Amino acid sequence: YPDIDDSLIVSKPEGNTNLYTAPRLAEWVGIDDLFLKHEGENPTGSFKDRGMTGGVTQARALGMTRVACASTGNTSASLAAYAAQAGIEGIVFFQNKDIALGKLSQAIAYGATCIQINADFDRNLELVREVSEKLGIYVLNSLNPFRLEGQKTIMIEAMQQLRWQAPDWIVVPGGNLGNSSAFGKALSEMHCLGLIDRIPRIAIIQAEGASPLVSSYEPRPDSTNYERGRDELNPTKAETIASAIKIGNPVNFPKAVRALRLTNGVVESVTDQEIMDAKAMIDAVGIGCEPASACSLAGTKKLVESGVIQRGESVVGILTGHLLKDPDATIGYHSDQLKNLHANYPNQLHQADGNTEEIIAILQQK
Ligand code: F0G
Repeated sequence: YPDIDDSLIVSKPEGNTNLYTAPRLAEWVGIDDLFLKHEGENPTGSFKDRGMTGGVTQARALGMTRVACASTGNTSASLAAYAAQAGIEGIVFFQNKDIALGKLSQAIAYGATCIQINADFDRNLELVREVSEKLGIYVLNSLNPFRLEGQKTIMIEAMQQLRWQAPDWIVVPGGNLGNSSAFGKALSEMHCLGLIDRIPRIAIIQAEGASPLVSSYEPRPDSTNYERGRDELNPTKAETIASAIKIGNPVNFPKAVRALRLTNGVVESVTDQEIMDAKAMIDAVGIGCEPASACSLAGTKKLVESGVIQRGESVVGILTGHLLKDPDATIGYHSDQLKNLHANYPNQLHQADGNTEEIIAILQQK
């Protein structure tokens, strides 16, 4: 932080997450080289901490005493934790339907002012901006540029872990498109600085029921043309089991388009079925992630099948959040109780009375 007094910096610290090799998952999607960077290993369980350190530090530098966000879950926990550490008030606008309960519990526990509002994420983001402007509150959703500057470190760290040998592809889930935007900026800056000798292509993966980028983005042959404002977003009403990315009107759309043009990127969508099956695979090799994060693997698989990603190309997939998010989806999947979904890779829960015979019978059956 140039020009910011050390005493103002709020950090836990974040980052230093693992970059896993995953040969079994590579085989499942049909490529030779797959790495998964696990951002769920950050202090509050998601990549949000990467940017929240910068955002809350900037709030303090500006003398703000209140910070706010709308959230599908992870941002709320991160904001609440960093605000608590900084000794300022955190405020979270939650939706009141299908709330990510574990995340609400984190925000409540860290002492944030939590408001459940009868509106979806997209409306809550409008509301938090309006209310914050009236009351002089600092908004820390990913429209905040200091957040995105922090999220660039995911890419910088990944390249360092790969000894500055850029992979062919970066595959990332897309919701509000903050990560996609930050990644494009980080990669092009690293390339300009000579830290990497080529720019990996970004693949942004959305859930089919929340894919406004996929339906709005049109690649142009002149992929170097990334001026803002020439592409139009068609917002949608979002619906997906991947709670984190249930977003129909992403605020970072223009920046994400820029990132796509800078990196010769692609966009793709995957169904909830594909998301949950990919998640089951990631979980079953002991890495684990939340549903939204599994877009990275599900999207890689789909892009390999359609020939966009070639078997010999290397892929870094970003796992954005922790396995403990959305436990209902995980348990529902493995017990095959999810509406319109089938558990293709189930691990069924067993029931037994409190005697050895029944338990032994179960274990002998396996
Ligand atoms: N993955 C996870 C686990 C997330 O929590 C989010 C966003 C995304 C992906 C999408 O990232 O917005 O940069 O495209 N979660 C926000 C929240 C909206 O409130 O926690 P993006």
